[in-house]
Amino acid sequence: MKFFIDTADLAQIREAQELGVLDGVTTNPSLMAKVGIKGAAAVEQHYIDICNIVTGDVSAEVISTDYEGIVREGEHLASLHPQIVVKVPMIKDGVRAIKYFTSKGIRTNCTLVFSAGQALLAAKAGATYVSPFIGRLDDVSTDGLVLIEEIRTIYDNYGYQTQILAASVRHPMHIINCAKIGADVATCPLSAITALLKHPLTDNGLAQFLADAQKFA
Ligand code: G3P
Repeated sequence: MKFFIDTADLAQIREAQELGVLDGVTTNPSLMAKVGIKGAAAVEQHYIDICNIVTGDVSAEVISTDYEGIVREGEHLASLHPQIVVKVPMIKDGVRAIKYFTSKGIRTNCTLVFSAGQALLAAKAGATYVSPFIGRLDDVSTDGLVLIEEIRTIYDNYGYQTQILAASVRHPMHIINCAKIGADVATCPLSAITALLKHPLTDNGLAQFLADAQKFA
């Protein structure tokens, strides 16, 4: 399973990259606003800065919601850097635009997906990635992991190549369960990735080894 980091924070992206397990980055308008990016030029430069830190795909989200606007904005974003994947919302004009981008060889990430039917449409339009938001489903008492399972089954039934990118991941058990189900990618906050490192028996065992090493130092 690929690990993407879900942030626009350059320091966190660098930290995940240095860990050596990072395969890409996802951003969204809320994450860009959170790091204080303002203005089109600054946004574009920020995407380029992210691409220069990592080697994998970097999702950059369109703001337009009409077909022509999504196409114009997406083509511009894709022209900024070869690592850019155009992130498009799961709306009618978004699906049309994904189909267009697919025909032009522009890679896409269909975002704000909350049902298996939406994921099926994204795959039929040729999306490179589909982003089901599992944490936000959990927030409304609906098991987000069940949606990942449903999409996995549907895509495997028909051999769709669209990659399941589990989004709105909140904690390490989301990551582990996504890996068990067979999600292709999990995009996670840095805290969820580093939480995978932790186990008290590892800490206790290491402390004991270091203490015993003193005996023969
Ligand atoms: O990738 C989408 C993600 O940023 C949404 O996460 O935690 O805002 O639901 P969250």
